[in-house]
Amino acid sequence: MRFERLPLARAAVTAAVATLWATAAFAVNVNFVSGATGRDIDLMRELVKPWEKDTGNTVTIVPMPSSTTDQFAQYRLWLAAGNADVDVYQTDVIWAPQLADNFVDLTEAAADVVKDHFPSIIASQTVDGKLVAMPVFTDAPALYYRKDLLDKYGEKVPTTWDELAATAKKVQDGERAAGSKDIWGYVFQGAAYEGLTCNALEWLKSNGGGTIIDTDGNITVNNPEAVKALEMAAGWVNTISPPGVLSYMEEESRGVWQTGNAVFMRNWPYAYALGNGDGSPIQGKFDVAPLPGGGGDNKSAATLGGWNVAVSKFSPNKDAAISLVLYLSSKDVQKERALQNSQLPTVISLYDDPDIAAKQPLIPRWKDIFLNAVPRPSAQTKIAYNEVSNKFWSAVHETLAGTTPAGDSLEVLEADLQDLKGGGW
Ligand code: GLC
Repeated sequence: MRFERLPLARAAVTAAVATLWATAAFAVNVNFVSGATGRDIDLMRELVKPWEKDTGNTVTIVPMPSSTTDQFAQYRLWLAAGNADVDVYQTDVIWAPQLADNFVDLTEAAADVVKDHFPSIIASQTVDGKLVAMPVFTDAPALYYRKDLLDKYGEKVPTTWDELAATAKKVQDGERAAGSKDIWGYVFQGAAYEGLTCNALEWLKSNGGGTIIDTDGNITVNNPEAVKALEMAAGWVNTISPPGVLSYMEEESRGVWQTGNAVFMRNWPYAYALGNGDGSPIQGKFDVAPLPGGGGDNKSAATLGGWNVAVSKFSPNKDAAISLVLYLSSKDVQKERALQNSQLPTVISLYDDPDIAAKQPLIPRWKDIFLNAVPRPSAQTKIAYNEVSNKFWSAVHETLAGTTPAGDSLEVLEADLQDLKGGGW
């Protein structure tokens, strides 16, 4: 008996060992780093579950600071050191030209699916023919406004910056007199980081002041309209915007807005789902509109944002990482992200999706806004972009803080950018 049973037992053990071996050989853990803004990390944990189940792999999500500037600084260090611990990076739309050399070319892996996405977005992630990242969502900001308060004061949604400032002041003063001591008219992102570059680019562009650097790489930032645009924004600080706005990033502005302490806010679409979420004091009380323009021919301008996923060329788990990247950028996952986080899909067909339109009506309304959004000058300035932006936001911040008048800030900035440009970008 013992001898008869032995081969069976042996077969079972052999099979178990084979399974173990297969699991060890094929199932891997993918380390994924992503900035943590709003519900980003919680949602990501939910989104990766079906992929983990299907592949047998696991994903460890490493939350990074919300500030894109802080993320970029850390990632650049890791990549320069050839860090093999991170397999997948969530990347800002502006990083592609700067970090391209560190990521795997996804052209072949994504060949069947790139056509599902807006071509301009795929183009923004393509550097010298190499597809360095796949998009997970695109971004274009909105003017959030309190419907209830505008109704109460008989005001319309502002379409110019002057109207915004006047309405913000009127409602702020009225509400304060009625006992809402902490209310402010307008919150935005005024800290010294990339988000301020986005805000200030909108002020310039919507007032006829150009785009810092034009599409040919010429430095255009020092012009009278740009000076006026910065003077306009500096005039808001401590009148309709809290002095603390000088250190606000996205989440700080949303904090003030979502507790009901702002009449208007400039922010990205993620704040829409959160503001309407259960328990939000402003649930159902607000809507969104395009940001104001300068008036006349000076139309509203929205800075183009967005996030992507890229595979590190130092990853020891490239196949699994590529599979995860394709999954996260897929239509199904983008739909879930749109439904839950009101983040704008990059998959074209989702703009006709009835579930998305019903649950997050902002999304179909924002298609034209992001398609016409203004890109930051990252393609022209290539590896110098972060420094260009850093010099720009620093100059703007000094003016907002009242340390340097707008004209002087932009004159110094122009000279600094010329030095940086040297013979060319
Ligand atoms: C948003 C945008 C991103 C931008 C950042 C600035 O996350 O999607 O592109 O750089 O805001 O704070």
